[in-house]
Amino acid sequence: RIKEIKMVKKIIIDTDPGIDDSLAIFIALNSPELEVLGLTTVFGNAVTKTCTENALRLLEIAERIDIPVAEGAHAPLNGNFRGAATFVHGDDGQGNAKLPLPTTQALKIDAVTFLNETIENNPNEITLVPVGPLTNIANLLTKHPGIDAKIKEIVLMGGNARSPGNATPTAEANILNDPEAADIVFSAQCKVTMVGLDVTNNVFMNEEQVNTIGSFDNAKSKHINKINPFYFNFLKNFFEEEGMPIHDSSAVTYLVHPEYFETIQHPIKVETLGISRGKTWMGMGISDNEEGLGERLKPWENRRKTNICVNVNTKKVIAFITERISI
Ligand code: BDR
Ligand code: CA
Repeated sequence: RIKEIKMVKKIIIDTDPGIDDSLAIFIALNSPELEVLGLTTVFGNAVTKTCTENALRLLEIAERIDIPVAEGAHAPLNGNFRGAATFVHGDDGQGNAKLPLPTTQALKIDAVTFLNETIENNPNEITLVPVGPLTNIANLLTKHPGIDAKIKEIVLMGGNARSPGNATPTAEANILNDPEAADIVFSAQCKVTMVGLDVTNNVFMNEEQVNTIGSFDNAKSKHINKINPFYFNFLKNFFEEEGMPIHDSSAVTYLVHPEYFETIQHPIKVETLGISRGKTWMGMGISDNEEGLGERLKPWENRRKTNICVNVNTKKVIAFITERISI
């Protein structure tokens, strides 16, 4: 009997670390089902230079300096960065933890070059995991036409299908930070899975669960314990919430356990104008065929269906994350 061999997924995490990004990176590094080929950085929770330093710091803490870091975009496609989310993630993107400077350095090549070369060298094997604004991925798709056909899948944290936004009433922060880029990514000719607020807001850890992920006797968990209080206190002071949604780690969990999530398939178009700027709109129900290309209302024309997470088994995701940070 031929045994089914589960292939290890090769991934590149595109990230703006960021408190919840840090947990996501650690969870990925602790998952034997995943091989992290690199981290690419982008502005978002902090400016890009800080996010690059943090990516290097996180790999040093994890003792994985063999993994390359490539720095990406410093501003969205339209040039206007809304500004770092210092009130959520601290001035340093790491909860003002006063970390030493990294001793390692980013690659000399930029994120788009790194992404392109790695995908070209591993055609149809790379899953991209963007958990920040989508500028680098959009630049990859536009600077290297046809590269999307060689990407296995894009599993992104961002967007909101049925639920309200978190950065504005209509938009999620990663998408709002570069809606034009997001719209390019949702028109890619490869499978795209959206792990957005519809599920990540429901992966909500209460105070006890937050304390637990920071309580283990290993360097990664200890770092999480240093940085989480800033995010926790922000949510408590601004929204009177006694806990935190676990956004970016939910996307990493999806890579290992897609069965914890319920998905629906519709093409997505990103609003770029007015008060709904950054809203991810689903185009629904217009005679789709099996390839996902059907007659469409104009805005969704010629788009593949995005695989959209709409429900989640919260308990299982939290148990998974807790188990992976414990080792
Ligand atoms: C997303 O925005 C960032 O602040 C988080 O790191 C996460 O990727 C949640 O909306
Ligand atoms: Ca992020």
